[in-house]
Amino acid sequence: MARHTAIPPQRLRDGLDALVSLEIVEQTGDELRLTAPFAEMLTPDGLLSLGDKLDEAHLMARLVGEAVEVNGLPMLSSDDALTAARGATFQPTEVGRAIFRQTLDRVPEYAAAIGQGRVLDVGCGVASGLLTTAALFPEIYGLGLELVPAVAAEATRRAAAHGVADRIEIRAADARHLDETAAYDACFWAQPFFSADARLPTLRAIHRALAPGGILLEQELDSKPTDIEHASAFALRRMVFQGWGAPFASTAEQLAVEAGAVGFTLVRIATTNLGRMVVLRR
Ligand SMILES: C[S@@+](CC[C@H](N)C(=O)[O-])C[C@H]1O[C@@H](n2cnc3c(N)ncnc32)[C@H](O)[C@@H]1O
Repeated sequence: MARHTAIPPQRLRDGLDALVSLEIVEQTGDELRLTAPFAEMLTPDGLLSLGDKLDEAHLMARLVGEAVEVNGLPMLSSDDALTAARGATFQPTEVGRAIFRQTLDRVPEYAAAIGQGRVLDVGCGVASGLLTTAALFPEIYGLGLELVPAVAAEATRRAAAHGVADRIEIRAADARHLDETAAYDACFWAQPFFSADARLPTLRAIHRALAPGGILLEQELDSKPTDIEHASAFALRRMVFQGWGAPFASTAEQLAVEAGAVGFTLVRIATTNLGRMVVLRR
């Protein structure tokens, strides 16, 4: 391996020892291989993509450094936004579908609303959620709204690669400017990624776009950890997200109050395999 990589043998040994101690690599005799969870991330069916997660980790490390600079944070470049969107999500694979099916079982009102046929995904990123939904509900039409054109272009490419471009539309647009009325039965809002000033205008646009009785689903993300092991990751993510102007780790109860301010009614707060979800009705 040293000959192949031109890395000096001792440095290579130290690096491999570090990977073994982190349980990323395992050694049997002379043989080294990725441990099962990391090997799975290199397969097309893996729930997470190793490349996407490594790129995201590099980006987050850089942003943590920039988060303490006196002059405030620079805007994310288009490439950064794409890295963040690719890393923030799971792959729309069979495993992803099985996980999402379990989630839907806990939010039956949302599942029933999707079944009515027209779904809106606000802040769709690279459309993993929308593509998973499209696979589980082969009859639906879905619209994904994504602010960053490079991210929207990747979502469009993925919709075509999944063979659903005829019924999944991606629009590069600011969700605040969605100008449709009573046109959708169900909406998912990627609320953690929306800045404070965009939130109420976005909620108003969603409220307008949903048909009366339509269902909005929001996920509580990054809830405050009670154990020391996860506390440092939470603190670092908070620095980055708050630097973007996004309120960090809003609780399900806070999300319900926020949506109530534009006229949504709380159906319930559900505990699911993807954390707590807020189900709201127009
Ligand atoms: C990371 S994605 C969420 C993951 C996504 N649900 C998936 O399944 O892949 C959230 C996206 O919201 C987008 N966003 C933030 N503010 C927005 C706005 N005002 N209008 C539209 N999209 C916005 C961000 O650019 C980001 O890509």
